[in-house]
Amino acid sequence: METVRFAHMADGTRDDYALLDRLEEHFTDELPGRILEHLEKLEGSISGYKVSRLEHCLQSATRAHRAGESEELIIAALVHDIGDMIAPFSHSELAAAVLRPFVSEKTYWVIKHHGVFQMYYYAHHFGGDRHARDSYRGHQWFDDAVRFCECYDQNCFDPDYESEPLTFFAPMVHRLFRRENIRDFETDIRYGKKALA
Ligand SMILES: [Fe+2]
Ligand SMILES: [Fe+2]
Repeated sequence: METVRFAHMADGTRDDYALLDRLEEHFTDELPGRILEHLEKLEGSISGYKVSRLEHCLQSATRAHRAGESEELIIAALVHDIGDMIAPFSHSELAAAVLRPFVSEKTYWVIKHHGVFQMYYYAHHFGGDRHARDSYRGHQWFDDAVRFCECYDQNCFDPDYESEPLTFFAPMVHRLFRRENIRDFETDIRYGKKALA
């Protein structure tokens, strides 16, 4: 396999970085497939609920779909707990970071804060503050986060609900996580592109 010649990035040439750029494009084009693979791994995540974490996510996305939500929100619902495996103490932020280049600021904000808003349903049972979300009251997307948790999170642990399978959402995942959809904010990849322009 072709590689760069440098051992320290500081010694890289334009040709080295052009090679990396080509390889990176190919790699990032495979992002939707990796997201779907990662979602499958949620099958073996947190136990104790009546449904697996994957089923919870499918239920969330299915409810969003059946309610006529935008494709962006449906896929945000699908991946909202994708961080459970490797970010159990900050899973909302991880999911939000995965989505951020491809979704609106509003969807990003709702997913980033869904963990705090979700506390409303359980935190008081062990001495926590179920009203922790109130610190965001007055924020323009406060009601959207409340609604997301009410309609597409707290109610998605039902073993009798008939969710669509992951394959149903796969085409939507492929449509959303595309390079062409990257929004105009400062991403690592954008810095790279500017350097080669
Ligand atoms: Fe969550
Ligand atoms: Fe959830």
